[in-house]
Amino acid sequence: MANRVALVTGGNGGIGTEICKQLATAGYRVVTTCVDAEREKIADWQKELAAAGTQVDWVECNVTDFEACKAMAAEVTEKFGPVDVLINAAGITRDAFAHKMPLENWDSVIQTNLYSVFNVTRQFVEGMRERGFGRIINIASVNGQTGQFGQANYSAAKAGMHGFSMALAKEGARKGITANTISPGYVETAMTAAIPEEVRNGIVAQVPAGRMGRPDEIARAVVFLAADEAEYINGANIPVNGGLFTSF
Ligand code: CAA
Repeated sequence: MANRVALVTGGNGGIGTEICKQLATAGYRVVTTCVDAEREKIADWQKELAAAGTQVDWVECNVTDFEACKAMAAEVTEKFGPVDVLINAAGITRDAFAHKMPLENWDSVIQTNLYSVFNVTRQFVEGMRERGFGRIINIASVNGQTGQFGQANYSAAKAGMHGFSMALAKEGARKGITANTISPGYVETAMTAAIPEEVRNGIVAQVPAGRMGRPDEIARAVVFLAADEAEYINGANIPVNGGLFTSF
């Protein structure tokens, strides 16, 4: 994979960071986006990776801003070469019951989790078509498949991501491009740590695996889908959720 460039948005999150690490270990040239406030945190794990003999670079970009994404794409292409593998992993939660949800919670989640997917993918998919190769992997959520209390915004965005994947899958299939969704269940990250403890315990009790997932278990599926050999897996929504579906 020495020549393939992978761009990961949201590389500073629990899942995004592990995706960067595993892709770098698998031999991809990995670049991640971050916002200004995340620089230090990224620098920390960059050092960790360097010590282990792998490298991840970063570029600053607010993925909710289409023009910023355009500038970021030009910078990435110039510095690292054309992007072959794109992982849309940037995401936030702003949970509230729909009947109490401020517009700001709706807007920020749809912007960060859904608009970002178009803003970033739009910059790279044309080049992928020209070169006849591309892997687009959207990190959604079990809650985009089932809905969740307090997450009308998040569930809508995550379900929307998979609609986007399916359309891109059709558009790119004859151009060597695949677009797939991975829908993680409840994974040990800062995002799930913020769930009220009682609610979280109730959720974990429903997981047949009897525990939350780990970020590396999601990253493993990403590396699988990113491979050249994965071309016939297209438009899929792969759940990585410890068997959670079987509990519903
Ligand atoms: N399952 C079952 N019941 C739930 C629930 C859940 N996930 N979330 C809330 N409830 C219940 C509460 O237990 C409570 O029940 P009672 O009235 O019987 O006590 C009722 O709903 C009201 O809850 P709150 O008192 O907490 O009401 P609130 O308005 O203060 O907050 C809430 C509501 C924002 C939904 C809050 O309960 C909450 O944050 N819940 C967790 C939501 C959640 O699961 N988010 C997932 C984040 S992680 C993620 O998104 C990653 C991923 O992709 C999987």
